[in-house]
Amino acid sequence: MGKIVIMDHPLLQHKIGLLRRKETPTKDFRELVGEVAMLIYYEASRDLPLTDREIETPLCKTTVKEIAGKKLCIVPILRAGIGLCDGILRINPSAKVGHIGLYRDEETLEPVEYFCKMPSDAAQRDIFVVDPMLATGGSAIAAIELLRKRGIKRIRFLCLIAAPEGLNKLHEAFPDVDIYVGALDEKLNERGYILPGLGDAGDRIFGTK
Ligand code: PRP
Ligand code: URA
Repeated sequence: MGKIVIMDHPLLQHKIGLLRRKETPTKDFRELVGEVAMLIYYEASRDLPLTDREIETPLCKTTVKEIAGKKLCIVPILRAGIGLCDGILRINPSAKVGHIGLYRDEETLEPVEYFCKMPSDAAQRDIFVVDPMLATGGSAIAAIELLRKRGIKRIRFLCLIAAPEGLNKLHEAFPDVDIYVGALDEKLNERGYILPGLGDAGDRIFGTK
């Protein structure tokens, strides 16, 4: 059974509080998204398997730990998920990056797919699907369905803010996927926006409002 981790670290709560403020400008918003993503990723990568490697320090031989296997792949859900990548790649620069393009139809709130490009060896990697917002859950579920169809098994999902509706739906759809959430909010409004939330994440990251 996958786990649901709601982050409670003070640094993270402080930064998410800054993200929520409507007066936070694009430049600060973007930087904060990167920092928050890095902090969530730190927790989400806690249980990655390690292997031993013999090395030499300047003084003697020793055994060190390194991440086992084919390593990792970050998969942002376009477009807002891109905002999380820089922060994550700063602490995990060798990770590969796949992209899934989805947008939410404003009327139906259903996800519409427009792009998917994954590394050819993605099925051998630990996958971190990242998106700032988990609202109805439609986009996250569609993205993970796409990955599962490609035979990809080891998937974690990271978001900055989740609504209870989307979190429950995602966990029911994929009970084996670990979900890491920066903050769990109260509910969705009638237009599918998270309350209190932070508004439209993509528009705030890219300054398109
Ligand atoms: C936002 C967000 C998620 C989705 C969440 O993207 O980044 O992908 O909505 O909503 P859901 O859980 O109800 O599916 P949006 O569709 O606005 O596209 P964008 O990233 O291109 O702005
Ligand atoms: N997408 C966003 O960007 N914000 C929300 O509150 C919900 C979906």
